[in-house]
Amino acid sequence: MAVIQNGTGPADDTVSVPMVNGADGQHDANGASAPVAQVRTDPLATFPAHGPYAQMVGWGYVTPRKVVTNNDLANIVDTSDEWIRQHTGIVSRHIVTDESETSATLGAQAGRQALDVAGVPPQKVGLVICATSTPTHVFPSTASQIQDDLGCINAGAYDLSAACSGFVYALAMARSAIVAGDAEYVLVVGAEVMSRFVDWTDRSTCILFGDGAGALLIAASDVKGGIGACELGSDGSGGDLLTLPAGGSARPATLETVSSGEHFIRMDGPAVFRFATRVMADATRSVLQKQGWTLDDLDLVIPHQANSRIIQNSVIKQLKIPPEKVFINIAEYGNTSTASIPIALCEALAENRISPGKNLVLVGFGGGLSWGALAVNWSVSQQDVSRHWWQGARQQAAYRAGAARSMWRRVERRFASRRDRS
Ligand code: ACO
Repeated sequence: MAVIQNGTGPADDTVSVPMVNGADGQHDANGASAPVAQVRTDPLATFPAHGPYAQMVGWGYVTPRKVVTNNDLANIVDTSDEWIRQHTGIVSRHIVTDESETSATLGAQAGRQALDVAGVPPQKVGLVICATSTPTHVFPSTASQIQDDLGCINAGAYDLSAACSGFVYALAMARSAIVAGDAEYVLVVGAEVMSRFVDWTDRSTCILFGDGAGALLIAASDVKGGIGACELGSDGSGGDLLTLPAGGSARPATLETVSSGEHFIRMDGPAVFRFATRVMADATRSVLQKQGWTLDDLDLVIPHQANSRIIQNSVIKQLKIPPEKVFINIAEYGNTSTASIPIALCEALAENRISPGKNLVLVGFGGGLSWGALAVNWSVSQQDVSRHWWQGARQQAAYRAGAARSMWRRVERRFASRRDRS
């Protein structure tokens, strides 16, 4: 079986011509990033001749109802709507208000939508991966909670921690599982409740983040395309630039860590900005070259939504990708970390900016420091997802059966432990 490999180079029949003067083929003589060449190629040429291919067949997202505007924030910290818009492009963010809302509950709602869109019953899912920076607990994993909530009774589940790059990493892992034949369907979720880790007295961070979840269902398919080349990177030497200092094994929760605010996000904004601007451009260029695509082949970039200026300065200015080929929705949601790319992808689908045959690059960066980019050839048409009423009813029955099974197992365990004690 042919395998889609991380780092697969362009096939012989494709053309990849960096328009550069530098020796490394990526930077000019002054070290500046170079634009990617504009030569038309066959977008599917670098996919292996035989599957399985990892196709995105279901999608969904959810954001909390409560909207917090820039003006709302100006009432609690020394900032203004104008400053936030100019420096970040953010206008509002959605924030959880109910204690019962967690990364797991948001993730399960998004995951259920993804299964419904695909018309795939939860029992068919072989793996649930939840990328999150704000897990519901250190353990059990948020992914296991989502698996139980949805009734994915035949699935393994794990959380993936790579900060805001996590969703791209999770898609890369899903692709590997599909290509290796380990699962027929993988549910990939990005879920965050950033608002509970933000210091609402710190104007340099509280303006940036929002809550939400997005999910994609990845299926093993004979249809050529889907998730292609990927580029994952890490530079742990910059770990202190973006961190949640306490709550891990290095600094477990104590009165001191709580009173000194060490359970809130700390960030060197300008340093992260410089890093992000560089890696977003480099990772996008690199994944295009690995996939053997040129700028002409590329239809849409879906970048992590952290700051519209980062997106402008990286993929739009450095790579000279036309703005209409870059999806930006940060104004509404702020930075939802691992959820930002799937939420943007869902909105791009709703706006008909993605359709069969389109070539996408998903690119993100985050704490770690970490970064990741993926090339995707999209295959599913919106018509494919229209369903008969009975298919919807079958899905609902599957969720109810999963919930009943979960309840039964809890009751069974309670009886078993009582029996053991007596
Ligand atoms: N309102 C008004 N003024 C502010 C605010 C604010 N909310 N925040 C900072 N300022 C002030 C600063 O105090 C400073 O004032 P001074 O010149 O008097 O000292 C001035 O504005 C400039 O501050 P900078 O920090 O240099 O502002 P910058 O233009 O860099 O914008 C920002 C700050 C928005 C944080 C930017 O650096 C940024 O977006 N960085 C990247 C952050 C990021 O993407 N993080 C998420 C990573 S993903 C993950 O893994 C979670």
